[in-house]
Amino acid sequence: MAKERTFSIIKPDAVASGKSGAIIQHLIDGGLRPVAMKMMHMTDREAKGFYHVHRERPFFGELVKFMTSGPCIVQVLEGENAIARNRELMGATDSKKAEAGTIRQKFGVDIEKNAVHGSDAPETAAFEMGFFFAGKEL
Ligand code: RTP
Ligand code: MG
Repeated sequence: MAKERTFSIIKPDAVASGKSGAIIQHLIDGGLRPVAMKMMHMTDREAKGFYHVHRERPFFGELVKFMTSGPCIVQVLEGENAIARNRELMGATDSKKAEAGTIRQKFGVDIEKNAVHGSDAPETAAFEMGFFFAGKEL
């Protein structure tokens, strides 16, 4: 297995409800080490750029509104098969349907307010890390 990096967001719902510390600990206990981390409040332009792959989806407007509703924590995580491992720790998109013990089941609310984002492939991980972090921060 190879060491890999992935990009993660603790979304505004989870930051606002005080879940950030527990989520970071859950990720670390799951084998993912934060190598870069910052709190930021996304602008409309940043949220639209980050989620541009979803621009045609019916939920795009609501998603941008949600992601700009408050501060979030963006992170780069490193570990064995970090991209897949992070998705496994996160659980299914809809917090109401996520497997017991996953981050989304424990800390999210519904299909939109689902506590975390995680890159889904090496190409998206590279794009997303570069979107929020400069080379000198990594
Ligand atoms: P993410 O990109 O945030 O890690 O989540 P994901 O791959 O599991 O889900 P994706 O299909 O990429 O959707 C991105 C985010 O959009 C919101 N969403 N809302 N209202 C809806 O039907 C709906 N569906 C998705 C969620 O916040 C989801 O994580
Ligand atoms: Mg996605």
